Amino acid sequence: MPSPATTPELIDRIRKSGLVAPSDLHTFLADPRSDPGSGSSRHILDRLTEVHLITKFQADRLAAGKYKGFVLGSYTILDRLGAGGMGQVFLAEHAAMRRFVALKVLPGNVCEDDIARERFLREARAAATLDHPNIVRVYDMNREGKLLYLVMEYVEGVSLQALVEKDGRRSAAAAASYAQQVALGLQHAHERGHVHRDIKPGNLLVDRAGVAKLLDLGLVRSESDGDSKLTSQLGGARTILGTVDYLAPEQALDSSNVDIRADIYSLGATLYFLLAGHPVFPEGRAGQKLMWQQWRDPAPIDTVRPDVPDALAAIVHRALAKKREERFQTPQEMADALGRWVGGLVPPDGRLIVAPPNRPFLGRSAPSSGSSRSSMRLPAPPPSENGATPHPASKLTLSGPASGVVQLDGDPSPEQATPRVLAEATVEDDRPRRRSSAATARIAEPAPTSRKALLLVAAISGLTVGLLFVVVAALLFALGIIRT
Ligand SMILES: Nc1ncnc2c1ncn2[C@@H]1O[C@H](COP(=O)(O)OP(=O)(O)O)[C@@H](O)[C@H]1O
Ligand SMILES: [Mg+2]
Repeated sequence: MPSPATTPELIDRIRKSGLVAPSDLHTFLADPRSDPGSGSSRHILDRLTEVHLITKFQADRLAAGKYKGFVLGSYTILDRLGAGGMGQVFLAEHAAMRRFVALKVLPGNVCEDDIARERFLREARAAATLDHPNIVRVYDMNREGKLLYLVMEYVEGVSLQALVEKDGRRSAAAAASYAQQVALGLQHAHERGHVHRDIKPGNLLVDRAGVAKLLDLGLVRSESDGDSKLTSQLGGARTILGTVDYLAPEQALDSSNVDIRADIYSLGATLYFLLAGHPVFPEGRAGQKLMWQQWRDPAPIDTVRPDVPDALAAIVHRALAKKREERFQTPQEMADALGRWVGGLVPPDGRLIVAPPNRPFLGRSAPSSGSSRSSMRLPAPPPSENGATPHPASKLTLSGPASGVVQLDGDPSPEQATPRVLAEATVEDDRPRRRSSAATARIAEPAPTSRKALLLVAAISGLTVGLLFVVVAALLFALGIIRT
């Protein structure tokens, strides 16, 4: 689809996208700084991004002429988090709950493939059996038209692959901490009958606090799968599942017949990568690596990285043993062995973590968000010469912690906050990017008329009616219309 050529065409696309509520778009376009008359369509998109009505990702898609697919069920897509073998992963926000989630989307054409669909279902079902702090939680699975998507916990963090690529190899304490946490997550999966089969740095995330989480159960093998079509067609001896650099030797020979010890090998290869800054076999083509996994020993980690203590190096190489009987037999065993090197959580450098986009509120109508959403906040305009030109859109803001204690920022003072002013106020929680629709106006009810006043009015009315009745009766009697 061509890029929007004209401003009206772009505005039409923004409307059709459902990203910006009509009232917000109206307010935006009425603002002289939006300059819809003479500005280029990119200027409008940049400006919409600046005032957080859309995200940069959405702006780029709109600029490319796209306006469909921003909304999946109750979720609005905000950004792309990654892409892999199965499809794409997006950051999204639940329209009503204002919660960030990650959506893993299986595209329509892939959905038509029976194997891919069953794999996706398998991932969802396996994830549904798991509940562990070191495994990304999967909340739901949905269909929208031809698309299938998984709704997952959003991890504001960085993959171990990206962490090493961008920030170099890890200290012994950091590597041990991440590997131990993954081992604990794997132990949980193991106890529920799953073998992950794709443990690798790209499938492990570490959040801002240093909590490591494993994800991507796309290749999971579960005890409950039995002899399903997928097991025979994809997991058969002739198909290699997994990622070459982290593949256990027995998995390369027969992916369908592996147990949790294959994951322990892959975790050993991941730990090696964290410490060395490169995979076990950094050189060579995929075919060569697959052969080397069978018989060649990797360079000892303490020669690649002399500051790695011998005992930690021994853990790495035990996990990487060619024969699975010589490895740790359970992830718990490996986690226990690593315990000696773990001093606590090791947060990654915060600069490596992309914060979610600043979204004061969703552009799309959310149930019961009501009129408060029309109070779009634009950045404060530069002060005029006398320093006092509040922009019509800059309104009184109520801010405070989500705990509910609310303070007033700016004028007017709380005493001056009339019901009308409150009607325009917005409440922010502790995360400034969000604006709560609970900010909806509190319109004061008229003061109740006092009981005494009511009684008085009733008595006066009664007396007046009575008096009128007597006067009319006397008149009619005098005129002879009525007689005794
Ligand atoms: N829940 C999540 N939170 C944050 N980022 C995620 C999440 N899930 C996936 N990602 C990002 O998307 C990438 C691909 O996800 P993954 O589940 O591994 O898909 P695939 O099966 O296509 O490999 C990951 O490497 C990660 O960077
Ligand atoms: Mg993956």
